[in-house]
Amino acid sequence: MQSIAIVTGATSGVGREFVRQLDQGHGGPLNQIWLVARDATALAQVAAETATPTRVLALDLTLDSSYESLRDELDREEGLVVQWLVNCAGFGRFGGLGEIGEKANANMVRLNCLAVVECCYHALPHMVAGSRIINLSSVAALAPQPYLSVYSATKRFVLDFSRTLDHELGGSGIHVTAVCPKFMRTGFLDDPGNAEQVRRMTTIGFEPVDAVVAKALAAAIRGRATCVPSWDVKAIHVATKLLPSAWVMAGEDLLFDLASRR
Ligand SMILES: NC(=O)c1ccc[n+]([C@@H]2O[C@H](COP(=O)([O-])OP(=O)(O)OC[C@H]3O[C@@H](n4cnc5c(N)ncnc54)[C@H](OP(=O)(O)O)[C@@H]3O)[C@@H](O)[C@H]2O)c1
Repeated sequence: MQSIAIVTGATSGVGREFVRQLDQGHGGPLNQIWLVARDATALAQVAAETATPTRVLALDLTLDSSYESLRDELDREEGLVVQWLVNCAGFGRFGGLGEIGEKANANMVRLNCLAVVECCYHALPHMVAGSRIINLSSVAALAPQPYLSVYSATKRFVLDFSRTLDHELGGSGIHVTAVCPKFMRTGFLDDPGNAEQVRRMTTIGFEPVDAVVAKALAAAIRGRATCVPSWDVKAIHVATKLLPSAWVMAGEDLLFDLASRR
């Protein structure tokens, strides 16, 4: 039996940190870690820095052909057990819908939603009791976010999809965890779109990537469907469950305006 982890978005930020912590054994023993992203050179660099044997899959997860490649790769070997699937590949653009542009809006939906569904769909037949899926959602999933509308909706999709899939899998011993961090200093903000909206929204603060990943792995091992790593986001989570979304969005506008004036 070959026990593997698949990490998408493995070359940067959160995905890179998952590879590091899985390589250090924080997810239990693994025979191989499969690294997925587009940039083959960056993937080779991560592979070179990883002690566990790796398999590099240079795939653009906005393309249907990439899901077929992943399926073929998984089906090729007998006795393969996917112990971990970590869906980190994702991106966000700030600004109004028209400002972001058609291609970026569509690719956010493809990568942040469709790729997560496809990777789960193809990995699940290779999972056993004890296997875990981690899907990167966001604080943006917890309330609708004007000027981040497509991104926040994709992350809400990830949150609800993860919760329902975890429920469907009840009794199988396989669990799905959606992780909802606030901002982290990664490549995520390298090309974010409207800089003024980024400045307003990032006033909620940043979390350390290594702490988020450690908490996500611990939550997944415990079989939790949701992981909200920071206490202030937990408070936002409770408030957004109680209040109408129009009030929440008005409150966000006020909060971001006040915070960005400081
Ligand atoms: N950083 C934050 O503030 C934050 C907060 C909450 C949630 N998140 C979520 O956390 C996840 C990880 O983001 P990050 O912060 O680690 O961002 P990042 O540093 O920009 O990393 C994104 C990763 O995704 C890969 N990727 C991008 N487009 C891809 C595509 N079309 N096909 C395959 N791989 C692709 C990138 O590699 P290539 O470019 O080589 O493909 C890279 O490895 C995302 O889902 C993001 O929405 C981030």
